[in-house]
Amino acid sequence: MKFFIDSADVKEIRVALEMGCVDGVTTNPSLLAKVGRPFEEVIREIATLVDGPISAECISTKAEDMVKEGIALAAWHPNVVIKIPMGVEGLKATRALANKGISTNVTLVFSPLQALLCAKAGASFVSPFVGRLDDIGQEGMEMVRQTVAIFDNYGFATEVLVASVRNPIHVLHAALAGAHVATIPLAVLKQLSEHPLTTLGIERFLADWEKVPKP
Ligand code: G3P
Repeated sequence: MKFFIDSADVKEIRVALEMGCVDGVTTNPSLLAKVGRPFEEVIREIATLVDGPISAECISTKAEDMVKEGIALAAWHPNVVIKIPMGVEGLKATRALANKGISTNVTLVFSPLQALLCAKAGASFVSPFVGRLDDIGQEGMEMVRQTVAIFDNYGFATEVLVASVRNPIHVLHAALAGAHVATIPLAVLKQLSEHPLTTLGIERFLADWEKVPKP
């Protein structure tokens, strides 16, 4: 299973990299707005740090414009993956970019049937947003389970990239479902490393070490 970090903040990305857990990065306009830096500058800097797919999102709404934008974004670095919003226009752009050999990540996916269309259109990744479905009282992870099952049934090469991850349980269930990737905020990545018994165990070992005679 691959872990991507869901962040446009290079400081956060550096920390996650130091933890040895990062296979790629996902960004989106909201994450970029938080860091307040120019899009191209951020993506190019991330590309110097991370050796793996880096999702950069299109803001166009028409397929033709998305394709032009995607070609321009892909020129920034070979690891850039073009993030395309789900929908008819997004699917058209995904197919056109796939035909040109450009990797895509279809975002804002909220059903297994949307995900199936993305795979048919040749997406490299599909991003089911689990947290946002949970927010409206639907079980986001069920969409992931069904998507993984459909892709397995037919041997689609498209990777299931679980997004809108809000807590460690999302990561656990994504892993159990056989999702190829989870994109994880740094705070959740840190939570995954923690356990109260680990903290207590370290405290006890250090306390006992004080009692060991020193030469
Ligand atoms: O990767 C998509 C993710 O950033 C969305 O997360 O928490 O805004 O639903 P959230």
